Amino acid sequence: MSEKKILIFYGTRYGATEGVAGKIAELARENGLQAEVYNLKDLPSDKIPDFNNYDGILIGSSIKIGQWTKDVKKFVGNNIDQLNSFIGKKGFFVCSGYASNPESYEKVKVEYTKDATEKLGLSIDYYDAFGGLMDFTETSRMGWLEKKLLKVASQQTTGEKAEDDSYNDLRDWDQIENFALEFFKIL
Ligand SMILES: Cc1cc2nc3c(=O)[nH]c(=O)nc-3n(C[C@H](O)[C@H](O)[C@H](O)COP(=O)(O)O)c2cc1C
Repeated sequence: MSEKKILIFYGTRYGATEGVAGKIAELARENGLQAEVYNLKDLPSDKIPDFNNYDGILIGSSIKIGQWTKDVKKFVGNNIDQLNSFIGKKGFFVCSGYASNPESYEKVKVEYTKDATEKLGLSIDYYDAFGGLMDFTETSRMGWLEKKLLKVASQQTTGEKAEDDSYNDLRDWDQIENFALEFFKIL
């Protein structure tokens, strides 16, 4: 039997979703699948691979103020018919601050993936929400205002104040691995 092939498309702002997309590709290869990963920001619309040559598609997005990245929105909007007529399996995941809080996890898992894709008319087979990155160091991709807003939001949700210059990775790598392995099984 030939190797199964998956496509992973993602949109990131601060790097968390990019790391998850890379990890899922690595896990795919370790499990005998072929994986191609594309940052939608760098993928011209005429270079999108032909979905029919693949067994599965995963789309991942960063969440900011409840929204995917503009590249993810554009990709889904522009390719809705091709995605819906794709005969393999489709999954969607997000990296989101609220996903790391057990009290809001179930809500945002559905709201940012299944509900958001349904609103655009896209049906997906599989979805999850992972925690994000709160990187307050100097090398962070966040600007000062974003750092400030995220610090306030995280204090409101966790009750704790994040330290200046701290690097907080709220992604649960076991959860991410389980998500990937379950997705590979349904292909
Ligand atoms: C200005 C700002 C707004 C945010 N808004 C939300 C939000 O509405 N919901 C949420 O769950 N997380 C929110 N977050 C947290 C991000 O989802 C988190 O930083 C995640 O790592 C983003 O993914 P990325 O690193 O791939 O860009 C926000 C973060 C910032 C800086």
